[in-house]
Amino acid sequence: MELSKIYRPIQQDLDKVKENLRSIIKVDFPWLSEQLGHVVKSGGKGIRPALTLLAGKFYNYNLKYLLPMAGAVELMHTATLVHDDAIDKSVVRRGQPTIYKLWGEEPAVLLGDYLFAKAGEFVSDTQSPRVIKLFSQTLATISSGELNQFLTAYQVEQTREQYFQRISSKTASLFSLATESGAILSQAPEEQVKALKDYGYNLGIAFQIVDDILDFTGTEEKLGKPIGSDLAQGTLTLPAMLLLERHPEDNPIKKWFAERADQKNIDLAIKLIRDSSIIDECYRVAAEYCTRACQNLSSLPENASRQALIDLADYVIKRKK
Ligand code: IPE
Ligand code: IPE
Ligand code: MG
Ligand code: MG
Repeated sequence: MELSKIYRPIQQDLDKVKENLRSIIKVDFPWLSEQLGHVVKSGGKGIRPALTLLAGKFYNYNLKYLLPMAGAVELMHTATLVHDDAIDKSVVRRGQPTIYKLWGEEPAVLLGDYLFAKAGEFVSDTQSPRVIKLFSQTLATISSGELNQFLTAYQVEQTREQYFQRISSKTASLFSLATESGAILSQAPEEQVKALKDYGYNLGIAFQIVDDILDFTGTEEKLGKPIGSDLAQGTLTLPAMLLLERHPEDNPIKKWFAERADQKNIDLAIKLIRDSSIIDECYRVAAEYCTRACQNLSSLPENASRQALIDLADYVIKRKK
């Protein structure tokens, strides 16, 4: 199912979130204003703000708090992307040149900081100390995940546990913030807050596994970002781990990580992974997390929002971008 259909119960409000985000572009500093426009207007899928709104639609759908929260999660996400592209030295994002490519590392760091600060301003409008604290904790968790990824780059000896810990920190934490905050701000009972938090977490794990698969199987044209970049950056993801397990000797990933000299090793690793059952296996793991996510919804009222969250789990597995 297409995202536009899944978003139907909240589409109008999601449009308001996007409109509110554009308000940050209006600053009396032409360079900053232009770059903010560049990142805020470049169309992301909007999954995280959609999650906040959908999670907020089971009880008291109070837009006074849900709209700024949805804006905050999207801004936090955008900021992490600006930083992530600088760390990864990535030149294309959402089909457009990255801030890193346009201006280099330092402005990307500073612009990312600016976006985090703006996200903080949005979240303070929720007037909920509980949500503000969760927001801060999530930012710390994402940073630790990205740091861990950086510090373990080019290491072949990594366990699956380490991989799951990393994607839990860098990606699932923000998905679960998106849903948990939506639940809290709509005054859901604690049991349902927990259920929506867990849903977001499991969906986030599946989302990152699929992102890691698409880095091998996707196309830059569809994804709007380069493929093969995880291996190039020395990031060991699930498909790469499985190739290492299957071919412990004479493995192109081992050679690439050891010497980082011959690009042909990356191409060969991609080909070996694509031509094996590794991709199917990774999809099976991702699908398990989506199943868990849907199971988390069982205690929630049956409504259009719940159906949308179920459809979103299906979308995450099938997505090509
Ligand atoms: C990209 O997230 C970063 C990951 C966690 C893999 P999205 O794929 O949601 O990025 P946009 O916002 O749609 O560009
Ligand atoms: C998401 O992981 C990182 C963030 C938390 C920002 P990736 O590094 O896989 O994201 P992409 O593939 O660059 O979008
Ligand atoms: Mg990246
Ligand atoms: Mg990726």
